[in-house]
Amino acid sequence: MVKSTSNGPSSREGGEASLRVNGVSRSIALAPDRNLLYVLREELGLTGTKYGCGEGECGACKVLLDGVAVRACQTPAGEAIGRSVTTIEGLAEGERLHPVQQAFLEAGAFQCGFCTPGMVVAAAALLGLNPRPSEEEILAAMDGNLCRCGGYLKILDAVRRASRSPGSKGGLSP
Ligand code: FES
Ligand code: FES
Repeated sequence: MVKSTSNGPSSREGGEASLRVNGVSRSIALAPDRNLLYVLREELGLTGTKYGCGEGECGACKVLLDGVAVRACQTPAGEAIGRSVTTIEGLAEGERLHPVQQAFLEAGAFQCGFCTPGMVVAAAALLGLNPRPSEEEILAAMDGNLCRCGGYLKILDAVRRASRSPGSKGGLSP
């Protein structure tokens, strides 16, 4: 459930609250039926995060919440109040791509690209917590993300490349 407007210093009367999204404080309308995916895409215009299944099955909607990958379609917007949200739009630092984004480019790890934001976020979360994951840890971290184009081999190759990158921890602090 979305938390009430008495949710501490980040919320206020009038049904609004502020979220920190990609390092910027953003004001949103509080409503009990809104999930984080709706808020990001429809209220804040951050359409890089995708609506796939809407049921927690595909991972296309993954974002970082305090550095941990969550399915935004299953996350009430109120849960993000006062916390740090990072979307695919917030991973690069200026012109410098996040190491996972760079690795996806180098590996050619997308076809239609619809699953890519969720894949990149899942991998970024993994490497943020565990910069040198084992093969088993990579498979486990990416297991909740589906690619309708079947591009798994290149996607996993990209995650392995990113894990070998000297900058694999960049941009991931909560
Ligand atoms: Fe959220 Fe599929 S859209 S898991
Ligand atoms: Fe098309 Fe993954 S590249 S769904």
